[in-house]
Amino acid sequence: MKPDPKQKTSLREAALRALDNAYAPYSNFRVGAALRTSSGEVVTGCNMENSAYGLAICAETLAVASAVSQGLTDFDEIAIATDDSEPTPPCGACRQVLNEFAPNIKISSYTRDGREAVWTLDELLPHAFVLNPSRGRV
Ligand code: THU
Repeated sequence: MKPDPKQKTSLREAALRALDNAYAPYSNFRVGAALRTSSGEVVTGCNMENSAYGLAICAETLAVASAVSQGLTDFDEIAIATDDSEPTPPCGACRQVLNEFAPNIKISSYTRDGREAVWTLDELLPHAFVLNPSRGRV
């Protein structure tokens, strides 16, 4: 998606549009995500499952990977959208993926019928694992 200088793009709407593209025939739990970068770009992701179940990719992780592939690594907020009745928080693995780039990111989560929850990553992943890149080198 192109940068939105007026910040008018609703992150919620972008996550809901990504939800429409979710590929989740095995769990039937569909997820969309939209990341906003510090410069206003919006990058989306959806979950993508596979016949080999363990290859499933979460919506949030796909959004982060897509952003990184575009050279975007500064994130302010991620919105999550599902068909569930309660706003869904990101799974533990996605929290760790988000922590790599944006330890203080705001996380908002939406249902189709307008329920909303907001957290910070700090709240959801206290004491995150961070590897000092020099460790383990010979
Ligand atoms: N899923 C996500 O996309 N994000 C999460 O944070 C939790 C789980 C997906 C993975 C799988 O396709 C389905 O939801 C059920 O676990």
